[in-house]
Amino acid sequence: MSADVYFGHIFHLAGSPKVTEAADALVSIPDGALVVDDGRVRFVGERGDVPEEFSGATPHDHTGGYLIPGFIDTHIHFPQTYAGDSYGGGQLLEWLTLCIFPSESKFADPDFAQQAAAEFTRRRIAAGTTAMMVFGSAFPHAQDALFAETDRAGLRIVSGRGIQTVGGETATPLLTSEEDAIALTRAEIEKWHGADTGDYRTSRLHVAIVPRFSLSVTTETLKNLGELYDEYRDRGVYVHTHLNENNRPGTGEIDSTKQVYQVNSYLDTYDGKFLPGSTVGGKSLLGPRTIMAHSVHCQDAELARMAETGTSISHCPISQLFLGSGTMPWKRTVASGVNISAGTDFGGGDEWLISRVVGDAFKQHITEPGDAGVSMHPAEMLFIATVGGARALDMEDRFGNFDEGKEADFLVVEPADALAGVLANAVRSEDADLARDQTLFALLMGLRESSIAEVYVQGKLVSG
Ligand code: GUN
Ligand code: ZN
Repeated sequence: MSADVYFGHIFHLAGSPKVTEAADALVSIPDGALVVDDGRVRFVGERGDVPEEFSGATPHDHTGGYLIPGFIDTHIHFPQTYAGDSYGGGQLLEWLTLCIFPSESKFADPDFAQQAAAEFTRRRIAAGTTAMMVFGSAFPHAQDALFAETDRAGLRIVSGRGIQTVGGETATPLLTSEEDAIALTRAEIEKWHGADTGDYRTSRLHVAIVPRFSLSVTTETLKNLGELYDEYRDRGVYVHTHLNENNRPGTGEIDSTKQVYQVNSYLDTYDGKFLPGSTVGGKSLLGPRTIMAHSVHCQDAELARMAETGTSISHCPISQLFLGSGTMPWKRTVASGVNISAGTDFGGGDEWLISRVVGDAFKQHITEPGDAGVSMHPAEMLFIATVGGARALDMEDRFGNFDEGKEADFLVVEPADALAGVLANAVRSEDADLARDQTLFALLMGLRESSIAEVYVQGKLVSG
């Protein structure tokens, strides 16, 4: 395969920084070149410094445009493809019961599920999301459609069917027996995990074990899933669920979970500690391939336990605003050392673009009261959109930035609409570093689908 060289303004975070080190890791090359050969990054640097060995590379001139790593969405709901902006007249639990369970039940129809899988894939390409952790449908045929569409398009996905074994009347179509909960998840792993290459380490397709949240399952389900995970942990299988999202006193998600499971810490339910002091317990679902969506109201001990086990958070500020869930405390969460990534939570959120998510994160965290308020650095915003996501997916060695040898997942941004005017005409600081940060900030805040011109995964142009 002959090499390709892409010219444009390059932004990425080099190396393997923590979020607190993102500003130092920020690379900005206004007249940049990205050489891609055999699906991998071979060179990133100044246009004038492209090594002689790539002089025959096919040029792609995007001067005036930007080259950035593909966005990584670590929490989105496939069966909520058509459920954005659903009005439930309440917070999380009312919204789930009234709007979401009925919407997700429509995926029982295979034709409808197939249509949704195609739409989901089109939307994520338009939003430049090259890798995703997808909360899946309860219905195996819908998951088959999702994996098949994703593979056909050449994208990456981690997903698993949403597991529910208990729930009220509107959840009934989504429920299975305890036995089927395990059997269907095992079948999905066997069918799709690593399916494209036969090896999860080189695959674009991965499977996760996805209990919806503790209130949708039982101690028995969690115990059985812990055992299933133990069996597949070394084969790169993932775990995905929700944690500490809604703290309405008494009747909200967190208090209800503590009551049902008789625990003081919600995280304990996923950590094999269902009933302290009793014999009912099990294997932990935490680890470096586990992503907890939201984690807005964590105790210090919960954050420490996630950091200790390598479990990541998917921060979903758009959804948290919509569902009245509150704001994940940025400084305290960062200080705990837990890895933070970004999720649209589409369904709860109403944007597909990860840059919209990090834009809302900026607005929320600058508004946190008192000393908690902080102005996120644009490199921190880029971190949760890219490197933090790759780390959450435990594939940072494969993608997330433009370090030489990485698989070439990137976006060509050709500023359109309002973004074009802002980037062309804004006043920038005389200070070069600040001017660089201002440009990245404007790019992330102002980016819309109309400016995402091309999307590449493993060096191949993705098609919908
Ligand atoms: N907790 C359990 N299910 C869901 C869901 O579908 N969306 C959100 N935001 N939180 C949940
Ligand atoms: Zn969610």
